[in-house]
Amino acid sequence: MIATLIDGKGFAARLRADLAAHVAQLKEQTGEAPGLAVVLVGEDAASQVYVRSKERQTVEAGMESFSHRLPADVSEDVLLGLVRELNADTRVHGILVQFPLPGGLSQQKVIEAIDVDKDVDGFHVENVGRVAAGLPGLVPCTPLGCLMLLRDHLGDLTGQEAVVVGRSHTVGKPVAQLLINQSCTVTVAHSRTRDLPDVVRRGDIVVAAVGRPEMVKAEWLKPGCTVIDVGINRIDAGEGKTRLVGDVDAAAWDVAGAMTPVPGGVGPMTIACLLANTVTAFCRQKGLTPPAGLGL
Ligand code: GUN
Repeated sequence: MIATLIDGKGFAARLRADLAAHVAQLKEQTGEAPGLAVVLVGEDAASQVYVRSKERQTVEAGMESFSHRLPADVSEDVLLGLVRELNADTRVHGILVQFPLPGGLSQQKVIEAIDVDKDVDGFHVENVGRVAAGLPGLVPCTPLGCLMLLRDHLGDLTGQEAVVVGRSHTVGKPVAQLLINQSCTVTVAHSRTRDLPDVVRRGDIVVAAVGRPEMVKAEWLKPGCTVIDVGINRIDAGEGKTRLVGDVDAAAWDVAGAMTPVPGGVGPMTIACLLANTVTAFCRQKGLTPPAGLGL
């Protein structure tokens, strides 16, 4: 069996096109465009690439992009001062401070400083609580992207056995919460789980988010299951080259029923969902109902 490819890249492109249409309509209705502020501290090469993609795709969707670059040795007071300015700026409806921050700066303090209604990363404890309570809030982008792909491929997820491998605050835990909210039976496994292969084999759905290259093996999977591979790992490919691999062994394509590729699976969904969250945040701040299909 060769697994069906779950095309995150294509889905993300369609979502961005839908968003652009919604943004055009919102501009007509309100005279304003949703605005996303992105803050990058320091010179981390991977972060620079991500941030440029976020800014470009924001503009392509017809939204306002506000870019802020701060030096790696900026003080916490200056960074938190910028966040407070962005909280007060009525042109800004979503705020994203790119992580990781350079040493000495507290990620947690930054998350707590961002206005809950502008927290398009969904990392603020109040948004975390809203997801846990099944209330409308802002849902973290990568978990939201995973859920959109699963619902698009499988439809109603009620009663499915889901195994989430990874327990991070940014992916594993929120994915598990979202799957519970979809009436799945959810197991959260991680690198310290006993008998991990047997646990993973329970999954009709397996979400791999451990950040270890090709850790989840083909023989751990229930034949025909649906695999969402969140990992983006750069490994040595010999001759001075590198290549991207996921958290799931490539041999899984012969066992799973459907699977996301790396690259081109969950990765493109993350930025598309950031744009979706910005539109959602804009609508809520304006007292409008967010367009259907941007959340869950
Ligand atoms: N760095 C890598 N992924 C993310 C993300 O989703 N949000 C933020 N703020 N920083 C990141």
